Amino acid sequence: MSVTVRVPAKVNVQLAVGGVRSDGFHDLANVFLAVGLYDEVTVTPAESLRITCSGPDAHQVPLDRTNLAARAAGLLAARHGIDPAVHIHIAKDIPVAGGMAGGSADGAGALLACDALWGTGSSRDELLAICAELGSDVPFSLVGGAALGTGRGEQLTELEVGGDFHWVFAVADGGLSTPAVYREFDRLAEGLDVPAPVASPGLLDALRTGDASALAGALLNDLQPAALSLRPSLADTLAAGTAAGALASLVSGSGPTTAFLTKTPDDAQQVAEALLTSGTCRTARVAGSPAGGALVV
Ligand code: C5P
Repeated sequence: MSVTVRVPAKVNVQLAVGGVRSDGFHDLANVFLAVGLYDEVTVTPAESLRITCSGPDAHQVPLDRTNLAARAAGLLAARHGIDPAVHIHIAKDIPVAGGMAGGSADGAGALLACDALWGTGSSRDELLAICAELGSDVPFSLVGGAALGTGRGEQLTELEVGGDFHWVFAVADGGLSTPAVYREFDRLAEGLDVPAPVASPGLLDALRTGDASALAGALLNDLQPAALSLRPSLADTLAAGTAAGALASLVSGSGPTTAFLTKTPDDAQQVAEALLTSGTCRTARVAGSPAGGALVV
């Protein structure tokens, strides 16, 4: 018997970053939007815990106990006094180390899949608490849709979305380390007064009304200067997408994936083709939003 869970990627339509806290994390106002690129996590009883991964970027995925999917299975098993003897297979379609929460998606997916496989019957709140222990973005991977994340991003308030938004994601060569991007943010902010992060009312309105032009005007990522500082070539990718007719462009989360909002699905196809021919990215993917959260399939 196996259980498979499908989990979406995310883009941060607003990532407002505050000062560094005493625990080393940053306070955030993090507006997550789930997008239609998915990993599938399948769990099957086995002699002992092991992970495999398939997909074009599978070689970049750690297959040891640091993988969030393995940690999720371990945490759930420990809570219920179970041996986490399970084979976790990740069919990977979300860019690896790309700022689209692919690792977090696998954590949330493995958690939901193991809960179903073992019949541990966790409540939504119990699952969310384990997700928060796994990482700041993991609760959102479970929930999907759109949500405002406060605290270090793990405290979610679900948001209403009044329409579909169309995106292109330009995948860069190689990943960026999230802690390194936050460290660069701190370096760039040295000596400056970093205001407390707040969600923009205009951005929340644009989501609620499904207004792509208004959303384009309100997109904001405080980590973008840090990501560009570590990877200056991303400026060329952003410029290529804008020149190809995207309504707006920004770095996705801590990057290096860049995100382009377009008016229609056809525009998204055009922007993706232009990005591919520009030679400023490894590949370009089209995806719609909002997407649903983790789901047993
Ligand atoms: O929570 P997660 O394990 O995904 O965070 C990875 C790293 O990103 C943290 O170790 C920290 O360096 C940085 N981070 C942060 N503030 C947040 C979220 C993440 O500084 N709110």
